[in-house]
This record gives sequence, structure tokens and C-alpha cells, in this order.
Amino acid sequence: MKVLLVGGGGREHAIATAIVKSKRVDRLYCAPGNAGIAQIAECAPIGVMEFDRLIAFAKQKQVDLTVCSQDDPLCAGIVDAFEAAGLKIFGTRKNAAIIEGSKAFSKALMKKYHIPTAAYEVFTDAEEAKAWLKANNRFPIVLKADGLALGKGVLICNTLEEAQEGVRTIMLDRKFGTAGNELVIEEFMTGREVSALAFVDGTHYQLMTSSQDHKRIGDGDTGLNTGGMGTFSPSPFFTDEIRRICDEKIFRPTVDAMKSEGREFRGVLYFGLMLTEDGPKVVEYNTRFGDPETQVILPRMKTDIIDVFEACMNGTLDRIRIEFADNAAVCVVLASGGYPVSYEKGKVIHGLEHFRDRDDIFCFHAGTKFDDRGRIVTSGGRVLGVTALGSDLKDARNRAYEAVKYIDFEKMYLRHDIGHAIDEA
Ligand code: AMP
Ligand code: GLY
Repeated sequence: MKVLLVGGGGREHAIATAIVKSKRVDRLYCAPGNAGIAQIAECAPIGVMEFDRLIAFAKQKQVDLTVCSQDDPLCAGIVDAFEAAGLKIFGTRKNAAIIEGSKAFSKALMKKYHIPTAAYEVFTDAEEAKAWLKANNRFPIVLKADGLALGKGVLICNTLEEAQEGVRTIMLDRKFGTAGNELVIEEFMTGREVSALAFVDGTHYQLMTSSQDHKRIGDGDTGLNTGGMGTFSPSPFFTDEIRRICDEKIFRPTVDAMKSEGREFRGVLYFGLMLTEDGPKVVEYNTRFGDPETQVILPRMKTDIIDVFEACMNGTLDRIRIEFADNAAVCVVLASGGYPVSYEKGKVIHGLEHFRDRDDIFCFHAGTKFDDRGRIVTSGGRVLGVTALGSDLKDARNRAYEAVKYIDFEKMYLRHDIGHAIDEA
């Protein structure tokens, strides 16, 4: 088979690694890819939103299957565009991708189908939002821009002043663009956060192994929210008992709800969960693999990923067994100093050769490119994700922090406490 992967981040490098492992694939293309993906795939300089060019490329190269797991193109209808052109694609159609694309939609869905989540209100008028905040007078409170905002459209506000400032930022200053047309104000929940990802074929779903992300920039989970600074899998807090509750109250009802709404969900459904005192609740849905959750999940998956993608597209997920190794993985993100605010690019990365031909440690590229001298340099905030497999979580964590020492670039930043929760389990 010839496969085209759309995207170019650490998640895509992990997906690409799983795809080239498939016995069924003899050629992988990636658009646009990055310097790491270029070592296992042929990269084409086409942007993820350039649907016409991607379709023309897929036709020209006689691609058998395209894979997309990025929010912007999915919410803008890349799957619908490929299907209309008669091409096979793994991903979620636009009418179902809205589960991530609009928080007002996903909150209304959960309310209608009694899926546990934080209580909320939706506003289209800033003054009304401010008046409600004043009358409600309970803090902290959570403000969310309705639409996609690179994972940054969520503000946790501790005082009325902060919250009113937040309303201004989202609705009037439009810091997150049109994502701020509508505002969701949500009750603040406390508890442990777990990511549960599932393959879904419209009717059936199969859960992948669990994971946990570290979203804050600083050690001890302090500072600004980021795209994710590290992950581990499995989560010791996602017990069989919690899983059973989630199956019954969250996973099954969500898949059924989407079907009832005429928005059959096919693809990867990401459940961001908070394990609260009142039981697990949904923090958010994503319509794709998580980043960097994928960097710890896929290295543990034993089943051929192409078989799984096809089962999702054909509605036959009930006929395949998806297996994960009985081990653990930890991923430490190496970022550019200054991320997520401002940072420099173009720093030469040293030490990548240590990861060549290893199947126990991986260096997934997130923000890298070749410079005009052919050297691999930094080109984003999150630069690399160093993942190690181990017999258990502590072993994997030790190995990940050992492997991190191979890499060096100017102003490299990392958290030193990825997986600290493991010690509390
Ligand atoms: P989201 O993009 O919706 O996942 O939000 C980003 C992060 O904000 C989450 O991973 C949580 O850590 C935090 N968050 C979002 N909603 C809530 C909430 N209702 N209560 C507490 N924390 C939240
Ligand atoms: N790691 C969180 C996300 O992918 O949205």
C-alpha cells in the first residue's frame, strides 16, 4: 500500500513510525512532515489546509489511504473533501469533528445525553457574560473560547476581575480569533486528569491504553498551559473500576449520542477526563490522537495500525482485537527556551544519531527542519519528544531521562518531573 499522512508534528512522527512498521505498507508520504519524519517517509511541502493540492498529490502518487489526525483540517472537512474526490481517508468527517471544533456543541451534547461534565453556561454577549459572573460569584471559574485555539483558549480565573478580563480577552480583543464568537463559562473541577483515546467506527469503539499529559510549562504543574510537556502510559489511576464507569457513563453514551444526532463518529475520539470526587467527568473531547499522548501510546501498540484504520472506516471494529504491550512508556518533551510565550528558532540539534535503529527509545520530532546546510535545526516551541519504553512506569521514566541526555541544542528546556504522579499511585 501507499499511504499519505497529513501533518508534521510529534504526533505525526509517532503515527508515521507505526505506519512504516505495518507489513502492508511499502511507501509512506507525508505532507508537510518534518526533519524526523523525512527519515522514514517522503515529505511533500504541502500545507494541511491545502485540500486541493493534497488531493491532487494523493491522486498523482496513487495513494491507497490517507491519514489525518489534526484538528484544523478535520474540523474544516478534509475527510469530506477526500471522500468527495473518491479517495480513502482515515479521520473524522466535519459533522462529527465538531465535537472538538465547538465547545458549545460538545457541552450541549453532554447535557442532552446526561454525560457527566462540568456545569456550564454559553454566552454570545460579553456584557451578559460579565453580569452572570458577578451574580454567580463563585471562583475559580473556567472560561473557554468556543472554537479551536491551539489548546490555548481556556482560562482559569481566580477572581471576578480576572474573569472579567478573560471575557474581554476572548470576546472583545479576540485573542483566539473567531473561536471567541461564543464563550463557554464552566464550573471549575478538581481531580486527576487522564486521557482515554478510542478508535471508533461509527458504532463500535475500542479503547487504547490510557495515558496522562502534563500541560503546564513548569515543574510541579505550574505556569502557563502548553500543548503538553510530557506524557506517560498507562495511567495507574485509570483503574478497571474507573474504566467500567467510563464505559457505561461516558464512552458508550458519547458514541451513541453522535450516532443519534446523525453525526456518526469515525476516527480517533479523545476523552479528556477529570477523575473528580463525584466520579469521572469529561473535560474535553478531541477528534484525533493527542499530542504528546500518541508518543507513548503507539509505541506500545502491537496490532497493525493499518488494520485498525481500515476497521474504523469499514465499521468492523468489533471484529478486530487491538493489543497493547504489557509495558510502560514515558515521553519527555524538549522545548525551545521561552515556549509557550516567545522563543528562538534555527538552533542546531545534536545527538539524534543515538536513537537510530533503536526500538526501546524514540526521538519524535515536533518542531524541526533542515537548514540550508542540511543540518537539523529547531523550528517550533515543542521541538522533540523523547520516549522510552520500560518494564514499568518507573523504569520507563528512568530510561526516558537517560535518553534525554543524548540531545542538546541551545536554550533547550524540559520539565524534570514528568511522571511524578507515578510515585503517588
Ligand atoms: P481543555 O482545552 O478544555 O482541555 O482545557 C485545558 C486544560 O484546562 C485542561 O487540561 C484542564 O487542566 C483545564 N480545565 C479545563 N476545563 C476545566 C474545568 N472545568 N475545571 C478545571 N480545569 C479545567
Ligand atoms: N495533549 C493534549 C491534546 O492533544 O489535546
